[in-house]
Amino acid sequence: MIKVEGLFKNYKTGVVEHVLRGIDLEIDSGESVALLGPSGSGKSTLLNCLGLLDSPDKGKIFLHGQEVSRLSEKERARIRLTELGFVFQFHHLIPELSALENVLLPASLLGQKPTERAKHLMQRVGLEEKAHKSPAQLSGGEQQRVAIARALINGPRILFTDEATGNLDREKALEILELLLEINREQKMTLVSVTHDSTLAMRYETKYSLQNGILKKCS
Ligand SMILES: Nc1ncnc2c1ncn2[C@@H]1O[C@H](COP(=O)(O)OP(=O)(O)OP(=O)(O)O)[C@@H](O)[C@H]1O
Ligand SMILES: [Mg+2]
Repeated sequence: MIKVEGLFKNYKTGVVEHVLRGIDLEIDSGESVALLGPSGSGKSTLLNCLGLLDSPDKGKIFLHGQEVSRLSEKERARIRLTELGFVFQFHHLIPELSALENVLLPASLLGQKPTERAKHLMQRVGLEEKAHKSPAQLSGGEQQRVAIARALINGPRILFTDEATGNLDREKALEILELLLEINREQKMTLVSVTHDSTLAMRYETKYSLQNGILKKCS
């Protein structure tokens, strides 16, 4: 599970901007959590700290009992690759690779080539027929499905998504959201999603709102 104690984060660009002002948070293993809040409230900053992509100025983060806030960048990279998955608003697929090759990429960084697992994941996200297409030959929703399969290839315990459906129309956004929640339930994989869309957030077990640097649980 994820535990956060007294997280602070400032940005100093001319003036000091206090983005996170003392965040405490506990997320159970397998829980689905939506992080809401206005634009600029620090949702991505918090998610990036939890996902070891960014470092807090103060405070502690525990992932599955291990304090990760002060680890070396090498150790953090290892945890990101083996235990965490990420899906962002823009899919960041490599245009020169096929969908299937994109899915295999994080495994190749561990010296592995689990082709059958990648094919299975492509099937799980409903794209078994399109595994050999390049990203440009796929629709926006399909590209996000490939990004989800890629995020799952190393079997993460936690999946972080940041406005993963932000570029899609309502219907496609709901489909992707349902897919993420199904995988969350099937694999008991913790799901932490940033969204500005409170209707989509309703589908999650737990909802938090970030405002003025403080996190509040929504009822
Ligand atoms: N690398 C950075 N350098 C300086 N300031 C930053 C940096 N990243 C974020 N900020 C500032 O921190 C604040 C929070 O940004 P963040 O991206 O976390 O907000 P957000 O809630 O994700 O917004 P949005 O919904 O628009 O994505 C913003 O005011 C932003 O300008
Ligand atoms: Mg953001």
